[in-house]
Amino acid sequence: MLTSDKNEQTAPEKTNPENSKPMLFPVSPKLAAEAMVDDEKYRQMYQQSIVNPQGFWREHGQRIDWFTPFTKVKNVSFDDHHVDIKWFKDGTTNVSHNCLDRHLETKGDQVAIYWEGDEPGEQREITYRELHEEVSRFANALKSQGVRQGDVVAIYMPMVIEAAVAMLACTRIGAIHSIVFAGFSPEALAGRIIDSNAKIVITADEGVRGGRTTALKANVDEALTHPDIRTIEKVIVYRRTGADIPWHNHRDVWWHELQQLSSPHCQAREMGAEDPLFILYTSGSTGKPKGVLHTTGGYLVYASMTHEYLFDYRDGEVFWCNADVGWITGHTYVVYGPLCNGATIVMHEGVPNYPSVNRVSQIVDKYNVNILYIAPTAIRALMAHDKQAVEGTSRKSLRLLGTVGEPINPQAWHWYHQTVGEGRCPIVDTWWQTETGAAMITPLPGATALKPGSATRPFFGVMPALVDNMGNIIDGPGEGNLVILDSWPGQARTVYGDHERFVQTYFTSFKGMYTTGDGARRDEDGYYWITGRVDDVINVSGHRMGTAEIESAMVAHHQVAEAAVVGYPHDIKGQGIYVYVTLNSGVDYSFDLAADLKKWVRQEIGPIATPDIIQNAPGLPKTRSGKIMRRILRKIAAGECDSLGDTSTLADPSVVDQLIADRVEVS
Ligand code: WT7
Repeated sequence: MLTSDKNEQTAPEKTNPENSKPMLFPVSPKLAAEAMVDDEKYRQMYQQSIVNPQGFWREHGQRIDWFTPFTKVKNVSFDDHHVDIKWFKDGTTNVSHNCLDRHLETKGDQVAIYWEGDEPGEQREITYRELHEEVSRFANALKSQGVRQGDVVAIYMPMVIEAAVAMLACTRIGAIHSIVFAGFSPEALAGRIIDSNAKIVITADEGVRGGRTTALKANVDEALTHPDIRTIEKVIVYRRTGADIPWHNHRDVWWHELQQLSSPHCQAREMGAEDPLFILYTSGSTGKPKGVLHTTGGYLVYASMTHEYLFDYRDGEVFWCNADVGWITGHTYVVYGPLCNGATIVMHEGVPNYPSVNRVSQIVDKYNVNILYIAPTAIRALMAHDKQAVEGTSRKSLRLLGTVGEPINPQAWHWYHQTVGEGRCPIVDTWWQTETGAAMITPLPGATALKPGSATRPFFGVMPALVDNMGNIIDGPGEGNLVILDSWPGQARTVYGDHERFVQTYFTSFKGMYTTGDGARRDEDGYYWITGRVDDVINVSGHRMGTAEIESAMVAHHQVAEAAVVGYPHDIKGQGIYVYVTLNSGVDYSFDLAADLKKWVRQEIGPIATPDIIQNAPGLPKTRSGKIMRRILRKIAAGECDSLGDTSTLADPSVVDQLIADRVEVS
């Protein structure tokens, strides 16, 4: 549904045949007894949260410290003439206070972050007291550089403790952070700086990942040459590797010099519950990435509550979410959720399989990790090495496993369960989105019997529903577009600077409902099975990519006339990027040109957008009104050429035969 392609039936297409008779993994009686919530309690709390959301959230809103208690709980309209989402709106609080100050008395000397470098042996740790001091200093440093409440601070950092310090320091003074994943190109960084009017960029000399360095500071310099950037006043640079970097005296400032000069005392500013907390750009089916805006009070309540319940988090446990802070998972489950709960977290600078394929398991043993939360793409990459991925490790500290970011195929689920968790640890498969702030559909470990591949049931306060393409609600078992019928505290409030786009994207396809862009199936037990995106968004290694974005990068190449991008099933990445390209007349297709085009996209957007496959396509399948029929292109890319469906509405059906003949075999 929901896309530019009006002529297409874009409702979810596939159900996984592997799912037709799923295995059931019941909750162990021991865990049901020990955990915060068993099945009965889940049902009772869920019911209460739906019947009386005001009362439910009035109670659970108390889980964070408020400077001024809220009296209002939920003030929400999903009406597309007036979408307005407010939670706890007259309360005041501060995120960094909740993540730091309030733990000092009882947990000041507890480790907040164990940091594990890219190379084994490189490590640091920081207690809550030390983190509080670092954050306070850096908050003062930001002020000294002219950052005021409401200013936007761009963060383009590797996975170092200072990335969390920068985030928390922003929240301490009411600045809005906008993290740009350090794998994005200067071009992509520039676009996000322009859109958000950021005043400062925080970066590092270099980032280190998988044995390779990335010239982050040089990327920032290049981004800032963009003629439309007029707002950046300072670049703060954290020294990670000590590499020689270009320096602009009037603009660049060293992190460590600022920290030395700054006072370790900084009062946390009293912020309104609905004051902006951060912007995070995410791809959609059309146009440039959207700056999804999250606000203060509701986000923190929902992030911390989900962290505690999903992972049945117990005081003193070590929690490791290996996401990068450049994505929402890193915001919610590396930093805000766990730190708000006073947890000890692991932060890993590198990648799961460097320098050896048992790296994840080694880190688990080293820090006695109790809860491990990683993406299916990482699981599949490790699974390719089977027992080697756990060689020489015991993983006996592990109690729970989690996954997020894309549907997990049952084979990967079983491997994770058996080989990593030795059959002992439940797997929480958490479905959510940048826009939802935190998990929405997910098992609770003490409450939910698991079915591999299903994200199972809604979290408290979440009202998922399935609708057909006309917006009719489907009851009982069935399949359709996944929507959410009412608001929850962690919901994004708007698209930064473009509320109309927020309304258009999420609230117009189906009146009065939040449209997720995903398709799902609901089985006879009420369990949800996410079937994937129903719009022109693809999920590559758990990263969301708009096909339109890649297409626009392609056509910016001087030899390209037109391009159509689709996803295809990929063993490790979940989906790979398949590009059909029509070249300018007179340009001959060659392997060199294809390689050049791949490099081009990599430079324009970043390595994660690099096409896996490029097919020369002298003609694309278009309707008579000129719309590309992606459904056909998806089928051809997936090798399902026998089931293309109706092609009679094409302006020139013969292009399809040509495309099939030229199809690139996917290895
Ligand atoms: C899209 C959101 C959630 C944080 C990371 C991604 C897909 C996410 C699952 C899951 C099936 C999933 C959906 C969703 N997705 N989690 N457990 N099972 N699909 O955030 O970049 O905003 O992407 O990721 O398609 O819409 P994001």
